[in-house]
Amino acid sequence: MASTVLHEIREGISLLTINRPEKLNALNIETISQLHQELVAAAKNSEVRGVILTGAGQKAFVAGADISEFSGFSQQEGAKLSRDGHELLFNFIENFPKPVLAAVNGFALGGGFELALACHLRMASHNAKFGLPELTLGLIPGYGGTQRLSQLAGKGRALELILTSDMIDAEKASAYGILNGTTTQESLLENSFALMKKITAKPALALQAAIKSVVSQYLPDHNGYETEINEFGKLFTSADFKEGVSAFLEKRKPNFTGS
Ligand code: COA
Repeated sequence: MASTVLHEIREGISLLTINRPEKLNALNIETISQLHQELVAAAKNSEVRGVILTGAGQKAFVAGADISEFSGFSQQEGAKLSRDGHELLFNFIENFPKPVLAAVNGFALGGGFELALACHLRMASHNAKFGLPELTLGLIPGYGGTQRLSQLAGKGRALELILTSDMIDAEKASAYGILNGTTTQESLLENSFALMKKITAKPALALQAAIKSVVSQYLPDHNGYETEINEFGKLFTSADFKEGVSAFLEKRKPNFTGS
Protein backbone atom coordinates (compact mmCIF):
# COMPACT_ATOMS: atom_id res chain seq x y z
CA MET A 1 0.00 0.00 0.00
CA ALA A 2 1.34 3.47 -0.90
CA SER A 3 2.38 5.59 2.05
CA THR A 4 -0.25 8.16 3.03
CA VAL A 5 2.52 10.69 3.70
CA LEU A 6 5.46 11.28 1.37
CA HIS A 7 8.54 12.95 2.77
CA GLU A 8 11.70 14.50 1.42
CA ILE A 9 14.23 16.98 2.74
CA ARG A 10 15.21 19.91 0.52
CA GLU A 11 17.71 22.52 1.65
CA GLY A 12 17.12 21.82 5.33
CA ILE A 13 13.33 21.85 5.02
CA SER A 14 11.20 18.73 5.37
CA LEU A 15 8.43 18.57 2.76
CA LEU A 16 5.55 16.34 3.92
CA THR A 17 2.95 15.56 1.25
CA ILE A 18 -0.37 14.05 2.31
CA ASN A 19 -0.85 11.37 -0.28
CA ARG A 20 -4.45 10.18 -0.72
CA PRO A 21 -5.34 12.20 -3.83
CA GLU A 22 -8.16 9.80 -4.81
CA LYS A 23 -9.88 10.74 -1.52
CA LEU A 24 -8.87 14.41 -1.80
CA ASN A 25 -6.26 13.72 0.90
CA ALA A 26 -8.94 13.22 3.59
CA LEU A 27 -7.32 12.71 6.97
CA ASN A 28 -7.90 9.19 8.24
CA ILE A 29 -6.43 7.86 11.48
CA GLU A 30 -3.54 6.22 9.62
CA THR A 31 -2.58 9.52 7.93
CA ILE A 32 -2.71 11.42 11.22
CA SER A 33 -0.47 8.79 12.80
CA GLN A 34 2.00 8.91 9.89
CA LEU A 35 2.10 12.70 9.97
CA HIS A 36 2.82 12.53 13.71
CA GLN A 37 5.69 10.10 13.13
CA GLU A 38 7.15 12.28 10.37
CA LEU A 39 6.94 15.34 12.59
CA VAL A 40 8.65 13.55 15.47
CA ALA A 41 11.45 12.58 13.06
CA ALA A 42 11.69 16.17 11.74
CA ALA A 43 11.89 17.56 15.29
CA LYS A 44 14.77 15.19 16.13
CA ASN A 45 16.70 15.65 12.88
CA SER A 46 19.19 18.50 13.33
CA GLU A 47 19.44 18.86 9.53
CA VAL A 48 15.75 19.85 9.40
CA ARG A 49 15.12 23.50 10.25
CA GLY A 50 11.46 23.74 9.23
CA VAL A 51 8.55 21.80 7.74
CA ILE A 52 6.21 22.38 4.79
CA LEU A 53 2.91 20.47 4.63
CA THR A 54 1.05 20.09 1.35
CA GLY A 55 -1.41 17.78 -0.41
CA ALA A 56 -0.81 15.43 -3.35
CA GLY A 57 -2.49 16.21 -6.67
CA GLN A 58 -3.93 19.40 -8.15
CA LYS A 59 -7.28 19.45 -6.40
CA ALA A 60 -6.96 19.30 -2.64
CA PHE A 61 -4.76 20.17 0.29
CA VAL A 62 -7.00 18.10 2.59
CA ALA A 63 -10.81 17.83 2.12
CA GLY A 64 -11.39 17.14 5.81
CA ALA A 65 -11.35 14.31 8.27
CA ASP A 66 -12.22 11.01 6.60
CA ILE A 67 -16.01 10.94 6.96
CA SER A 68 -16.22 7.21 6.19
CA GLU A 69 -14.19 6.42 9.32
CA PHE A 70 -16.43 8.07 11.91
CA SER A 71 -19.91 7.54 10.49
CA GLY A 72 -20.86 4.97 13.18
CA PHE A 73 -19.05 6.50 16.15
CA SER A 74 -20.47 6.79 19.68
CA GLN A 75 -20.11 9.92 21.85
CA GLN A 76 -16.98 8.49 23.49
CA GLU A 77 -15.43 7.50 20.17
CA GLY A 78 -16.18 10.95 18.73
CA ALA A 79 -14.54 12.69 21.67
CA LYS A 80 -11.52 10.36 21.43
CA LEU A 81 -11.16 11.03 17.70
CA SER A 82 -11.02 14.75 18.41
CA ARG A 83 -8.72 14.50 21.45
CA ASP A 84 -6.26 12.14 19.71
CA GLY A 85 -6.17 14.43 16.67
CA HIS A 86 -5.39 17.44 18.85
CA GLU A 87 -2.59 15.61 20.64
CA LEU A 88 -0.99 13.85 17.70
CA LEU A 89 -1.30 16.50 15.04
CA PHE A 90 -3.01 19.84 15.56
CA ASN A 91 -1.66 20.92 18.97
CA PHE A 92 1.54 19.06 18.15
CA ILE A 93 2.10 21.30 15.12
CA GLU A 94 1.15 24.50 16.92
CA ASN A 95 3.73 23.73 19.63
CA PHE A 96 6.31 22.35 17.21
CA PRO A 97 9.83 23.66 17.95
CA LYS A 98 10.54 24.47 14.28
CA PRO A 99 8.43 26.61 11.93
CA VAL A 100 5.71 24.75 10.02
CA LEU A 101 4.09 26.18 6.86
CA ALA A 102 0.95 24.89 5.13
CA ALA A 103 1.23 25.09 1.33
CA VAL A 104 -2.49 24.94 0.49
CA ASN A 105 -2.90 23.71 -3.09
CA GLY A 106 -6.68 23.25 -3.34
CA PHE A 107 -9.60 22.36 -1.03
CA ALA A 108 -8.81 22.95 2.65
CA LEU A 109 -12.06 21.88 4.26
CA GLY A 110 -12.93 20.80 7.78
CA GLY A 111 -9.85 19.10 9.27
CA GLY A 112 -7.88 20.33 6.25
CA PHE A 113 -8.61 23.96 7.06
CA GLU A 114 -7.93 23.19 10.73
CA LEU A 115 -4.59 21.64 9.78
CA ALA A 116 -3.62 24.80 7.91
CA LEU A 117 -4.78 26.91 10.87
CA ALA A 118 -2.59 24.90 13.26
CA CYS A 119 0.51 25.64 11.16
CA HIS A 120 2.58 28.74 11.96
CA LEU A 121 2.28 30.07 8.38
CA ARG A 122 -0.07 29.57 5.42
CA MET A 123 0.65 30.06 1.71
CA ALA A 124 -2.18 29.25 -0.75
CA SER A 125 -2.59 28.86 -4.49
CA HIS A 126 -5.26 30.98 -6.20
CA ASN A 127 -7.52 27.93 -6.67
CA ALA A 128 -7.55 27.10 -2.92
CA LYS A 129 -10.92 26.95 -1.16
CA PHE A 130 -11.36 27.14 2.59
CA GLY A 131 -14.33 26.12 4.69
CA LEU A 132 -15.58 24.45 7.85
CA PRO A 133 -18.60 22.43 6.58
CA GLU A 134 -18.99 20.28 9.71
CA LEU A 135 -22.43 21.69 10.56
CA THR A 136 -23.77 20.21 7.30
CA LEU A 137 -22.92 16.82 8.83
CA GLY A 138 -24.57 17.70 12.14
CA LEU A 139 -21.17 18.26 13.79
CA ILE A 140 -18.90 21.15 14.69
CA PRO A 141 -15.20 21.52 13.84
CA GLY A 142 -13.35 19.12 16.16
CA TYR A 143 -9.70 19.75 15.38
CA GLY A 144 -9.34 23.27 16.79
CA GLY A 145 -11.24 25.23 14.14
CA THR A 146 -13.59 26.93 16.61
CA GLN A 147 -10.56 28.31 18.46
CA ARG A 148 -7.87 28.96 15.84
CA LEU A 149 -10.10 30.50 13.17
CA SER A 150 -11.35 33.00 15.76
CA GLN A 151 -7.74 33.81 16.71
CA LEU A 152 -6.74 34.56 13.11
CA ALA A 153 -9.88 36.00 11.54
CA GLY A 154 -11.81 37.26 14.59
CA LYS A 155 -14.90 35.90 16.35
CA GLY A 156 -17.42 37.41 13.90
CA ARG A 157 -15.84 35.92 10.80
CA ALA A 158 -15.20 32.58 12.50
CA LEU A 159 -18.85 32.33 13.50
CA GLU A 160 -19.93 33.37 10.00
CA LEU A 161 -17.83 30.65 8.32
CA ILE A 162 -18.70 27.95 10.87
CA LEU A 163 -22.44 28.69 11.03
CA THR A 164 -22.95 29.09 7.26
CA SER A 165 -20.51 26.29 6.18
CA ASP A 166 -19.66 28.62 3.26
CA MET A 167 -16.42 28.14 1.37
CA ILE A 168 -14.20 31.14 0.71
CA ASP A 169 -11.47 31.51 -1.89
CA ALA A 170 -7.82 32.39 -1.31
CA GLU A 171 -8.43 36.07 -1.98
CA LYS A 172 -11.08 36.31 0.73
CA ALA A 173 -9.06 34.15 3.13
CA SER A 174 -6.20 36.56 2.60
CA ALA A 175 -8.45 39.56 3.28
CA TYR A 176 -9.65 37.80 6.47
CA GLY A 177 -6.03 37.64 7.72
CA ILE A 178 -5.79 33.86 7.40
CA LEU A 179 -3.01 33.68 4.78
CA ASN A 180 0.59 34.86 4.63
CA GLY A 181 0.64 34.85 0.83
CA THR A 182 -1.09 33.71 -2.36
CA THR A 183 0.46 32.46 -5.57
CA THR A 184 -0.21 30.44 -8.70
CA GLN A 185 -0.50 26.71 -8.20
CA GLU A 186 2.68 26.17 -10.29
CA SER A 187 4.70 28.48 -8.01
CA LEU A 188 3.21 27.39 -4.68
CA LEU A 189 6.05 25.15 -3.54
CA GLU A 190 8.75 27.45 -4.88
CA ASN A 191 7.28 30.43 -3.01
CA SER A 192 6.68 28.35 0.11
CA PHE A 193 10.31 27.21 0.11
CA ALA A 194 11.50 30.78 -0.47
CA LEU A 195 9.59 32.03 2.58
CA MET A 196 10.74 29.11 4.71
CA LYS A 197 14.37 29.52 3.63
CA LYS A 198 14.25 33.16 4.71
CA ILE A 199 12.82 32.14 8.08
CA THR A 200 15.02 29.12 8.71
CA ALA A 201 18.17 31.16 8.07
CA LYS A 202 17.44 32.73 11.48
CA PRO A 203 18.96 31.20 14.63
CA ALA A 204 17.04 28.02 15.48
CA LEU A 205 16.77 28.60 19.24
CA ALA A 206 15.43 32.13 18.70
CA LEU A 207 12.88 30.77 16.19
CA GLN A 208 11.76 28.18 18.71
CA ALA A 209 11.49 30.80 21.48
CA ALA A 210 9.53 33.17 19.22
CA ILE A 211 7.00 30.47 18.27
CA LYS A 212 6.64 29.36 21.90
CA SER A 213 6.08 32.93 23.11
CA VAL A 214 3.48 33.84 20.47
CA VAL A 215 1.57 30.57 20.86
CA SER A 216 1.69 30.82 24.67
CA GLN A 217 -0.98 33.53 24.82
CA TYR A 218 -3.53 31.10 23.40
CA LEU A 219 -2.76 28.23 25.77
CA PRO A 220 -4.85 27.78 28.90
CA ASP A 221 -2.93 28.40 32.14
CA HIS A 222 -0.12 30.18 30.28
CA ASN A 223 0.89 33.81 30.59
CA GLY A 224 2.34 34.96 27.27
CA TYR A 225 4.28 37.84 28.84
CA GLU A 226 5.91 35.48 31.38
CA THR A 227 6.80 33.04 28.60
CA GLU A 228 8.35 35.89 26.60
CA ILE A 229 10.40 37.08 29.60
CA ASN A 230 11.74 33.57 30.29
CA GLU A 231 12.47 32.76 26.65
CA PHE A 232 14.14 36.14 26.12
CA GLY A 233 16.40 35.55 29.12
CA LYS A 234 17.31 31.99 28.09
CA LEU A 235 18.54 33.15 24.68
CA PHE A 236 21.34 35.15 26.33
CA THR A 237 23.07 31.80 27.00
CA SER A 238 23.00 30.76 23.33
CA ALA A 239 26.05 30.70 21.06
CA ASP A 240 23.95 32.23 18.28
CA PHE A 241 23.18 35.29 20.44
CA LYS A 242 26.91 35.84 20.99
CA GLU A 243 27.56 35.31 17.27
CA GLY A 244 24.69 37.61 16.21
CA VAL A 245 25.87 40.47 18.43
CA SER A 246 29.56 39.99 17.50
CA ALA A 247 28.70 39.95 13.80
CA PHE A 248 26.69 43.16 14.15
CA LEU A 249 29.50 44.94 16.01
CA GLU A 250 32.13 43.63 13.58
CA LYS A 251 29.95 44.63 10.59
CA ARG A 252 29.91 41.12 9.08
CA LYS A 253 27.29 38.46 8.32
CA PRO A 254 26.55 36.13 11.25
CA ASN A 255 27.39 32.45 11.02
CA PHE A 256 24.67 30.78 13.09
CA THR A 257 25.11 27.19 14.27
CA GLY A 258 21.70 26.59 15.83
CA SER A 259 23.16 26.32 19.34
N1 COA B 1 -13.85 12.09 3.79
C1 COA B 1 -13.87 10.96 3.07
N2 COA B 1 -13.85 10.94 1.73
C2 COA B 1 -13.81 12.12 1.08
C3 COA B 1 -13.79 13.35 1.77
C4 COA B 1 -13.82 13.31 3.19
N3 COA B 1 -13.78 14.41 3.95
N4 COA B 1 -13.77 14.36 0.86
C5 COA B 1 -13.76 13.78 -0.35
N5 COA B 1 -13.78 12.41 -0.23
C6 COA B 1 -13.78 11.42 -1.29
C7 COA B 1 -15.15 11.28 -1.95
O1 COA B 1 -15.98 10.44 -1.19
C8 COA B 1 -14.75 10.69 -3.28
O2 COA B 1 -14.47 9.32 -3.09
P1 COA B 1 -15.05 8.22 -4.15
O3 COA B 1 -14.44 8.62 -5.48
O4 COA B 1 -14.55 6.91 -3.63
O5 COA B 1 -16.53 8.38 -4.15
C9 COA B 1 -13.42 11.37 -3.58
O6 COA B 1 -12.93 11.83 -2.34
C10 COA B 1 -13.56 12.55 -4.52
O7 COA B 1 -14.49 13.45 -3.97
P2 COA B 1 -15.77 14.01 -4.76
O8 COA B 1 -16.81 14.40 -3.75
O9 COA B 1 -16.19 13.02 -5.80
O10 COA B 1 -15.16 15.30 -5.46
P3 COA B 1 -15.95 16.60 -5.93
O11 COA B 1 -14.98 17.40 -6.75
O12 COA B 1 -17.26 16.27 -6.52
O13 COA B 1 -16.25 17.41 -4.56
C11 COA B 1 -15.69 18.32 -2.38
C12 COA B 1 -15.19 17.94 -3.80
C13 COA B 1 -14.48 18.70 -1.56
C14 COA B 1 -16.65 19.52 -2.48
C15 COA B 1 -16.43 17.11 -1.75
O14 COA B 1 -15.59 15.97 -1.86
C16 COA B 1 -16.79 17.29 -0.30
O15 COA B 1 -17.72 18.01 0.02
N6 COA B 1 -16.03 16.61 0.61
C17 COA B 1 -16.33 16.61 2.03
C18 COA B 1 -15.88 17.90 2.66
C19 COA B 1 -16.25 17.89 4.13
O16 COA B 1 -17.40 17.87 4.53
N7 COA B 1 -15.21 17.93 4.99
C20 COA B 1 -15.37 18.00 6.40
C21 COA B 1 -15.33 16.64 6.99
S1 COA B 1 -15.56 16.70 8.76
